[in-house]
Amino acid sequence: MTTAILSALPEEQSGLVGRLDHARRVTHAGRAFWEGELHGKPVVLALSGIGKVAAATTATVLAERFRVARVVFTGVAGGVGEGVRVGDVVVARDYVQHDMDASPLFERWRVPGYPGVRLPCDAALTAHLSGAVSACLAGEITDFHTHADGRPPRLHEGLMASGDRFVTCAQVSRALRDPLVAAGHDVLAVEMEGAAVAQVCLDYGMPFAAVRTISDRADDDAHVDFPLFIQTVASRYADHIVRHLLKSL
Ligand code: ADE
Repeated sequence: MTTAILSALPEEQSGLVGRLDHARRVTHAGRAFWEGELHGKPVVLALSGIGKVAAATTATVLAERFRVARVVFTGVAGGVGEGVRVGDVVVARDYVQHDMDASPLFERWRVPGYPGVRLPCDAALTAHLSGAVSACLAGEITDFHTHADGRPPRLHEGLMASGDRFVTCAQVSRALRDPLVAAGHDVLAVEMEGAAVAQVCLDYGMPFAAVRTISDRADDDAHVDFPLFIQTVASRYADHIVRHLLKSL
């Protein structure tokens, strides 16, 4: 039962690769995949690439070539939901592709051929992932980001949105979020890959779960907050969460 662990950026993956036992690097479709054991469990580590198409290719290789049993995405996202702050953690229950619009032929945001606007994550794997995040936030708080007001980082669970756009302006963030919320889709965070991986995992019947740490608020400061967070805390979050998750599987 091999678990695939996907990261979006090398900075988020480096700690995991460093801890891999019996590491073997395999190249396929122009991508590097790391097979080995992490905390005693068989894993494949991969970079998703940036954007929906790159992530879909990586997920397809994980299904076709590596025949993994499940896929877990750890990465960062821009917080757009109320109270979703830098350093908080979001576990996805489901995904929407915020840049999919085949209306009026199909409902806005719905990927034609799929049952609804929301692409669900696997409930059981997601419960394991939420448990792992809660254990981290309760136990290793010092290694996590603390807000300037002293508030500890929080876990949020719900809808995440993906699209081929890095959101760096409050106006764009509102234009993306407000119509979704008005249609009953209260989106918590935005990133660029998860919904594509969710779609491929549905196609192959592979359980999928995703966790994203909030690196920025998808606003006018995002271009400063994002690289700072990536360089300083992102890989520590990924290390702790993956360790707790693999132990629980
Ligand atoms: N990933 C992290 N921050 C993001 C943002 N602001 N927009 C899109 N993807 C992101």
